Amino acid sequence: MDKLYEPPAWATAYPDLPIAEWSDRLELGIALIDEQHKRFFDLAASLNVGTDEIRVMKTLVTLSDYIRTHLREEEALMVAASYPRLAEHSHQHAQFRQMLGNLLSRARTMSLGEIADEVRFLINGWFYQHILTEDFAYAPYLMPDVNRRG
Ligand SMILES: [Fe+2]
Ligand SMILES: [Fe+2]
Repeated sequence: MDKLYEPPAWATAYPDLPIAEWSDRLELGIALIDEQHKRFFDLAASLNVGTDEIRVMKTLVTLSDYIRTHLREEEALMVAASYPRLAEHSHQHAQFRQMLGNLLSRARTMSLGEIADEVRFLINGWFYQHILTEDFAYAPYLMPDVNRRG
C-alpha cells in the first residue's frame, strides 16, 4: 500500500480553511492587482488538467515566480501609500513565501496529486483568505480618490 500523503506541518495550522475558486468578490477594484490575483487561480487550476510531470513542475515554478513578483509589487504599493499595517501584511507575505519555498523544495518527491492538493490549499485556501482579509484592508489606502468620492 502506498504511504498516505502527510501534509506539511504548517497546513495543519489551518484546519478549517475554506477552499474556493476565483470569483468577482475577490476583486479589489485595482486592475493591476486583480489581474495578478486572478492569474494565480488560473495557474493553480491548470495543474488539475493532465498528468504530465514536466508541465506540472514548469507550472509550479511559473506560479511561484509570479507570486513572488506580485508580493513584491504589492509591498511596494503599500510602502508608497504609507499603509499603516504594512508590517503585519508583509509578515503574512513572508509566511506565504516560506510555504511556497517549502513546497518547491519537496515537489520532486511528491506525486502530482499531492502537488495539486497542496497548491489548492495554498491558492484556493490560504491566498483566497488573504485577499479577502488583508488585501481588502489595504485597498482603500491605494485608492484615495475612490475613497473620497464615496
Ligand atoms: Fe497581500
Ligand atoms: Fe495580493
